[in-house]
Amino acid sequence: MCRIYTVQLFVAMVVLLRPSVVNSFQPLFVSDGNSTTHRHITQTAILRKTAEVCRDIAASEGREFSLTIDDTLSVSQVQMACSSDNSSSILSTVNFHTSIATMFFSNAIVDVVYALSEEHHFDDETFKGGRDVITTGVSAVKASVKDENYIAGRWTLGQVCHTLQDFYSHSNWVELGNNAPYNSLIKPDQTLTNLAGVDVQTCKNCTGDNCKNNILPDVLQQGLLTSGYFNIFSSEKPTGKCSHGGSFDKTSERDPVGGISKDKVGSSHGFLHKDAANVAVNATVELLEDIRIAVGDVPFLRLMGLSQSSVLCFVIDTTGSMSDDIAEAKRVSFGIIDSKRGTPQEPSAYILVPFNDPGVGPLTLTTNADIFKESINRLTASGGGDIPELCLSGLQLALTAAPSSSEIFVFTDAPAKDAHLKSTVTALIESSKSEVTFMLTDVLSSHRRRRSSQGVITRALGQSDAQLYRDLAQASGGQSIEVTKADLSMATSVIEDSLASAVVTIFQAVVNPGRNNNFTFTVDDLTQNLTAYVTGDSSLSFKLTSSTGVSQASNETSGPLASITTAGNLRRLRIRTDNETGIWQFSVTSDSPYSVKITGQSSVDFIYNIVEEHGGAHGDFSLKESRPLSGGNATLMVTMTGSNTVTVTDVSLLDDSGPTQVNGSIQACYNFKLCN
Ligand SMILES: *[C@@H]1O[C@H](CO)[C@@H](O)[C@H](O)[C@H]1NC(C)=O
Ligand SMILES: *[C@@H]1O[C@H](CO)[C@@H](O)[C@H](O)[C@H]1NC(C)=O
Ligand SMILES: *[C@@H]1O[C@H](CO)[C@@H](O)[C@H](O)[C@H]1NC(C)=O
Ligand SMILES: *[C@@H]1O[C@H](CO)[C@@H](O)[C@H](O)[C@H]1NC(C)=O
Ligand SMILES: *[C@@H]1O[C@H](CO)[C@@H](O)[C@H](O)[C@H]1NC(C)=O
Ligand SMILES: *[C@@H]1O[C@H](CO)[C@@H](O)[C@H](O)[C@H]1NC(C)=O
Ligand SMILES: *[C@@H]1O[C@H](CO)[C@@H](O)[C@H](O)[C@H]1NC(C)=O
Ligand SMILES: *[C@@H]1O[C@H](CO)[C@@H](O)[C@H](O)[C@H]1NC(C)=O
Ligand SMILES: *[C@@H]1O[C@H](CO)[C@@H](O)[C@H](O)[C@H]1NC(C)=O
Ligand SMILES: *[C@@H]1O[C@H](CO)[C@@H](O)[C@H](O)[C@H]1NC(C)=O
Repeated sequence: MCRIYTVQLFVAMVVLLRPSVVNSFQPLFVSDGNSTTHRHITQTAILRKTAEVCRDIAASEGREFSLTIDDTLSVSQVQMACSSDNSSSILSTVNFHTSIATMFFSNAIVDVVYALSEEHHFDDETFKGGRDVITTGVSAVKASVKDENYIAGRWTLGQVCHTLQDFYSHSNWVELGNNAPYNSLIKPDQTLTNLAGVDVQTCKNCTGDNCKNNILPDVLQQGLLTSGYFNIFSSEKPTGKCSHGGSFDKTSERDPVGGISKDKVGSSHGFLHKDAANVAVNATVELLEDIRIAVGDVPFLRLMGLSQSSVLCFVIDTTGSMSDDIAEAKRVSFGIIDSKRGTPQEPSAYILVPFNDPGVGPLTLTTNADIFKESINRLTASGGGDIPELCLSGLQLALTAAPSSSEIFVFTDAPAKDAHLKSTVTALIESSKSEVTFMLTDVLSSHRRRRSSQGVITRALGQSDAQLYRDLAQASGGQSIEVTKADLSMATSVIEDSLASAVVTIFQAVVNPGRNNNFTFTVDDLTQNLTAYVTGDSSLSFKLTSSTGVSQASNETSGPLASITTAGNLRRLRIRTDNETGIWQFSVTSDSPYSVKITGQSSVDFIYNIVEEHGGAHGDFSLKESRPLSGGNATLMVTMTGSNTVTVTDVSLLDDSGPTQVNGSIQACYNFKLCN
């Protein structure tokens, strides 16, 4: 299920609309209610092929697989059928949804980035060029999978699918009576035969709006392959050639007038739209099978994003004073690896970035736990002395390597020398939607730096140095955990918590400057294992009150509602909800800054992307990779995951630091059938 939200953002004042030259199946949405989009074709093929691979794996392991594989599968059905986990752990479809969205957004963006490139759309009879786009792209996808760079692989794959799918809309393949895919398009070594030569006339005028019989009978009888010419500026085309058709296509105004596109029901050959879309689905399935055979089943499923688990990502300061911290990072990660290996909760990848000064890296990015263990074993704390370290450079490297929505843990006890990277890192946090949690040891409580007996300023973290890290944590939805080295091991449970299945954030607030606040949050019967994290100084106190009025104060470490552990500035509450659904209250008393975050485990969650409406007649959207423009409307595409019964009634954007709330208006997808 998905909804489009239009949110008015109150910022500065420019609106720029990109002219739309959509020349393909509609990218994401349809306005006519009946046409099939690139998004739908892509998602249908991904779900079918993924289910087939899971069925084959189940068969080889002698497991039951009862799902019927057809074109009506939903993301949740496939995720559930693919799960070999018969424990009671909660399934999340967020990773799968996110990865499918990456592929349909990159598919759709071909219409923006390569709007006028004929080979990306098989226009103008560019069959060899189009086939090269596909086969080069497929090789790149396979190489990315071998490098375990699934993000790049998905991005390229979505684009390749666009070109492949356009072939069935823009050529006369379907008119020639074919209902199976043209598999030479994915095989670089096969010759493309029966192409209509440059001198061969292929179309005649349509009769008025009726283009049913505009392809010349000779072309059909000889089985010659042709495609429509398309140009938005000029009506030039070789004599007697078919056009794409439609109002943007100037070539279709010239003899032979009209076109052969099957992009949607209302196109020149719209009567064949469904047939073209159906073959495009099967062609996409075939392309996915080609990739699966090349890379193997498990890497293929990773490429599809069919993973329950998160990545384990550490960015670690390796200067002299960090040996205890490194030992703790090692202990906690080895514990996670050893307890989760072979289970569905095993991290889907491991990322390690060491930094000191002047060095950053090397980056370790691997799905192999043993390689990660070796890398972390090799870390030694040395050097550094009294100078600040390149923390943000290390974080920047991790943010670019990690899949979106990862949680990244940064271990340091020193100020950042590269604070000038703050805005770059913030932008990366926004675009990757990753959370950054800092594990800061030995932050000084005073505002002045400690001086050693020789009067040299030590490397220790002062309050203003720590503020940089707090700001980044806040911008990302993570936390800044500040403990003594001795207490670090009591705080690293947050790392284990982040790797539980289906973790969702229920509530989050950062209050700076400090003031008393009564927060409320909702407990529903779909959410388990609520955990609250409060960071703040030792003067902070709080009271938790359940929906039925039971309450517990912060000085009761084991009360009726929660067990509370404290490590440095962090208080962690394991909350027992005991079926007490409804509105709970969390009241905080503090006059210094603090943060509150409440998580739970639930299969119900949502993903969102900022999208941008094309100008022009189509009213379709494409992914917006930068911030919304000031003063204009911003549109979010929100997809609910994990439930067929949950519907969205409101959406609001909250400022991460202030009381600003912007309410959106909800617009349902144009075509509900395509929206699950
Ligand atoms: C969709 O197709 C059906 C049947 O073909 C037709 O009745 C209906 O009017 C079409 N809807 C739109 C919005 O074109
Ligand atoms: C899960 O299924 C496997 C076989 O498919 C079985 O050996 C195992 O005992 C089951 N575990 C649980 C917790 O049911
Ligand atoms: C909730 O937490 C308990 C204790 O940590 C754990 O045993 C249980 O599996 C968790 N529930 C889920 C759904 O993961
Ligand atoms: C095709 O249509 C165009 C524009 O209507 C017209 O000028 C031309 O003569 C027609 N050609 C033939 C062969 O009928
Ligand atoms: C697509 O493939 C499926 C499964 O192989 C098949 O049942 C269906 O008929 C094919 N569709 C077309 C249009 O050939
Ligand atoms: C929080 O609620 C209590 C009563 O439940 C009230 O006394 C107090 O003033 C409230 N605090 C704030 C900041 O609203
Ligand atoms: C918690 O603090 C309140 C007042 O601040 C006090 O009355 C109560 O005894 C304390 N409870 C515990 C368990 O320390
Ligand atoms: C919560 O509700 C379920 C089903 O309604 C029941 O089986 C369970 O015992 C309840 N748990 C508690 C702690 O009340
Ligand atoms: C934002 O959207 C509303 C309603 O769709 C429209 O009236 C308004 O003109 C738009 N504002 C801008 C700046 O585009
Ligand atoms: C947004 O919605 C919330 C809850 O529905 C409401 O309390 C608030 O006043 C609204 N804000 C604006 C700016 O409309």
